[in-house]
Amino acid sequence: MRAVPVSDHITWVGAVDWNLRDFHGFDTPRGSTYNAYLVRGTDKVALVDTVKTPFVPELLSRIREVLDPARIDVIVVNHVEPDHNSGLRDVMAACPHARVVASAPGVRGVAEYHDGLVVEAVGEDDVIDLGGVTLRFLPAPMVHWPDSMFTYCPEDAVLMCNDAFGQHLASAERFADEVGADLALEELKVYYANILMPLGAQIAKVMGKVAAVGWELATVAPSHGVIWRGDLVAEAHAAYQRWGSGSLRDKVIVAYSTMWGSTDELARTIADALVAQGLDVEVYDLAVASFARLMVELLDARGLLVGSATLHHGMLFRVAGFIQYVGGLRPAGRMGAAFGSYGWSSGATKQITERLTEIGIEVVQDPYTQKFRPTEAELAAAGEWAVAFAEKVKAAGK
Ligand code: FEO
Repeated sequence: MRAVPVSDHITWVGAVDWNLRDFHGFDTPRGSTYNAYLVRGTDKVALVDTVKTPFVPELLSRIREVLDPARIDVIVVNHVEPDHNSGLRDVMAACPHARVVASAPGVRGVAEYHDGLVVEAVGEDDVIDLGGVTLRFLPAPMVHWPDSMFTYCPEDAVLMCNDAFGQHLASAERFADEVGADLALEELKVYYANILMPLGAQIAKVMGKVAAVGWELATVAPSHGVIWRGDLVAEAHAAYQRWGSGSLRDKVIVAYSTMWGSTDELARTIADALVAQGLDVEVYDLAVASFARLMVELLDARGLLVGSATLHHGMLFRVAGFIQYVGGLRPAGRMGAAFGSYGWSSGATKQITERLTEIGIEVVQDPYTQKFRPTEAELAAAGEWAVAFAEKVKAAGK
């Protein structure tokens, strides 16, 4: 795959990680990319972002299609997380004359990751003039880490915003309109739900700043996945605003893990009862479900019911892992409850109730706990339990 022009002065020179399947727990069936951008003026050349260490040869080979890496004058580190920064030392070896710049927290992060390497800080008031082409900077704290920074090229109206507007999507195409808007927006949503969900307010603040400083956005070039241009820039931004609004629907996620089918039977009964109450319902067996896709559904769901069989006096480990995963993303305003079956020693539903409370889910009713296989009468009782939950979900939405 060749280097790809993004605009008059900017060329994509990143790397495609076709085989990435796990991003610290976020399953990534479509791989990812580590995008880097070469920005050329009449006098100087800048490289905005680098890549993960194993992909440095791929990055350098793409740069060489355009120019000798030794001609690079500036390397911009928008974000120190290793998917963008671990290859920095190796890239610097190929660009011996380059100065390296980062945000002030980024300077500290680069030093932490690279044995005290000292780089220069840039901020909102700084401009790097490449000769007819300039780079400007905006701190973007917590989008995605404290060091995160946006780099903007006003002459081409291109925003290089690192993780913001990214997607874990490997493709031969470089633009959202080329892979298709539906796929690009779907993966934008998966990325948002699994990485940026707790950071909606910070994203809104930074995008407000982008508007306030008057940066026109013809192209939004993230560090993962495809690049947004044309009408899709506004569409992606509107999607971020929608997801970040925190608005929830009368929708319930039923997520569970079963041993011998009793908790599964409860889950199906509960789901049917919720549907009969007019709620949108999504059911996930956590033994086989993708947590990442489930989180997309939780973006606008007000209810979360978590079920588990009891094993060794507690919940099944996939349920524990799921609650930990959800907790890290800090969904606000959700209500929940626990259900599950046991044989001779209960424990799972009590544990789930405690953990849901700890992660900030409002537990609105006692658990439904079932001994051994549910009888018809017990399934009816589980259904009534679900109806009580549905009423609370609907009441909260009024
Ligand atoms: Fe793609 Fe926060 O790193």
